[in-house]
Amino acid sequence: MCSILGLSGDYDVASAIVDSLQKMEYRGYDSVGVAVNNDSEILVKKGVGKVKVVNDSIHMDKLTGNVGIGHTRWATHGGVTTENAHPHTCNTGSIGVVHNGIIENYVELRKDLEKNHNVVFKSSTDTEVIPNLLQIYFEKSHDVKKAIMDTVQKLKGHYAFVALFKDGQMVGVRNHEPLVLGIGRNDLLLTSDVVGLPENISSVSYIEDKQFVIINKNKYRIYDFEGNVAQSSIKTIPKSYQNVSKGLYEHFTIKEIFEQPKTILVAGEEKNNLEKIVEFIRDSDYVYVTGSGTSYHIAVIAKYLFSRFAGKKVEHVMASEMKYSSQYIIPNSTLFAISQSGESADILESVAIGKTKNAKILSMINSKNSSLARESLYSIGLNCGPEIGVAATKSFTSQMAILYKIADKLCDDCLGINFNTVSDAYEKMLSNTSKIRELAKSIKHIQNIFVIGRGIHYPIAKEGALKIKEITYIHAEGIAGGELKHGPLALMDSSTYVIVINPDDDSYVDNASSIHEIKSRNAKVIGISNKPDANYDYWIEIPTIRTDLYPLIEIIPLQLIAYYLALERGIDPDYPKNLAKSVTVK
Ligand code: AGP
Repeated sequence: MCSILGLSGDYDVASAIVDSLQKMEYRGYDSVGVAVNNDSEILVKKGVGKVKVVNDSIHMDKLTGNVGIGHTRWATHGGVTTENAHPHTCNTGSIGVVHNGIIENYVELRKDLEKNHNVVFKSSTDTEVIPNLLQIYFEKSHDVKKAIMDTVQKLKGHYAFVALFKDGQMVGVRNHEPLVLGIGRNDLLLTSDVVGLPENISSVSYIEDKQFVIINKNKYRIYDFEGNVAQSSIKTIPKSYQNVSKGLYEHFTIKEIFEQPKTILVAGEEKNNLEKIVEFIRDSDYVYVTGSGTSYHIAVIAKYLFSRFAGKKVEHVMASEMKYSSQYIIPNSTLFAISQSGESADILESVAIGKTKNAKILSMINSKNSSLARESLYSIGLNCGPEIGVAATKSFTSQMAILYKIADKLCDDCLGINFNTVSDAYEKMLSNTSKIRELAKSIKHIQNIFVIGRGIHYPIAKEGALKIKEITYIHAEGIAGGELKHGPLALMDSSTYVIVINPDDDSYVDNASSIHEIKSRNAKVIGISNKPDANYDYWIEIPTIRTDLYPLIEIIPLQLIAYYLALERGIDPDYPKNLAKSVTVK
């Protein structure tokens, strides 16, 4: 979603803000803006487009001032226009605000401000009510702390914002959206994500829910919404989170795909937490696994793995659907929440619902200090390093590896997997991508594509289709092979392509019938398999590996097909339209 940023230093901060915004752009990238204080007003520069493009044209980095705020936007309220880009200022121009989240009651607040305080709104965002409320309350008390406390009383919704006052005081406020305080020697930074930290700041304090931090020159103090001073602990962030770069790769997406031979080896390498999670799952009568998008596909895979290898029944629930079936959650069960970011609003909501039923919350996350980690009894880390590409790639294989580890423990080491063989298979597939690139070239103009798989390969088919639709904008559908004849065959003709996930396991024979059904309608078959078949129009070969492990490797060609198709179609795979990496709104 949007990224918010604030920086207070003893130097002109605008250029450092632009650098940090560029690092956090994956959170939202439809428009961008920066504001700095000077004694009489807040100076703002903003525009529509990505950080570099906007900065090259309006030079946000050349603003002068020692305290500043910045924003990259993923539009929720109001179209993608310069007026709607953040920062937003109050009518007097004395307070500027950048905001992430949604102010649910902004319509009534806006009406009241227009009617009773003659506020003239310049944008159609929900955000603009915040600087105006702050200004009205600040004018009454001349006290920043009081103005914040009064303002948050009025706001409904999940939000985090940073407000800049013209005298250089800055405030970061957190209410269910992430906010981190970075503490440097000569500077203090507020950011949505540690990825935004400049290299010279590695100490951080996580602002808790319903807390705010006031920064004045080089000093800060944290309060709760009642105005009490709050205690905070300071942590050190690993350098890998601050030095995120594409290196020699053209895009983060392909860099992250190529990292998988390494990341697969360290997934869930936290013995104690893994054992605790296994213990809870083993001892629970009812286990629900939940997630969104890619992480939901992992929840579906959990069902296949845990039932097959451990005889454990689990139920998968899409996080966004949890509230519509919450009445069926058996009290005192276990809820295993899967999320790369640990910040998706849907997953946090499903966890909150689970808690109302006294469910024990376990989670699998990439970001150890995320909101989800803090809501959980035990969390297990993916350890795959920051994932910047909007399309989840390495996090998916790490999540799956952890499921295998849990399944293995649940069945008393019946699987005994050696992940080195998986890593070697990845190396092999990634060492020669020419066939996939050729395929991408020849099918770049297609409108529709289907991906089929049976059993545990079905959620992999869904994941492959999600990758394709997300970064190529081609309509793609993941279908269980057996379902073709129950409807989707109506869509098959000579212009249709079907990717069949077809490893040599117990789904192979049944897939043969699907392939015949597809071919009889003159559609083309792209087989992902370790075995050739005369019926394939294209054969994407995967290495032969232990039968149970095919799901871990067959996703790699699907990720590559999506990536190279995106390039062929002239799409930047790191920043697909209308999407954002961490979806913190419902
Ligand atoms: C995957 O490629 C997507 N970008 C998206 O579906 C993502 O998996 C989903 O939004 C969930 O995110 P999370 O794992 O961070 O909660």
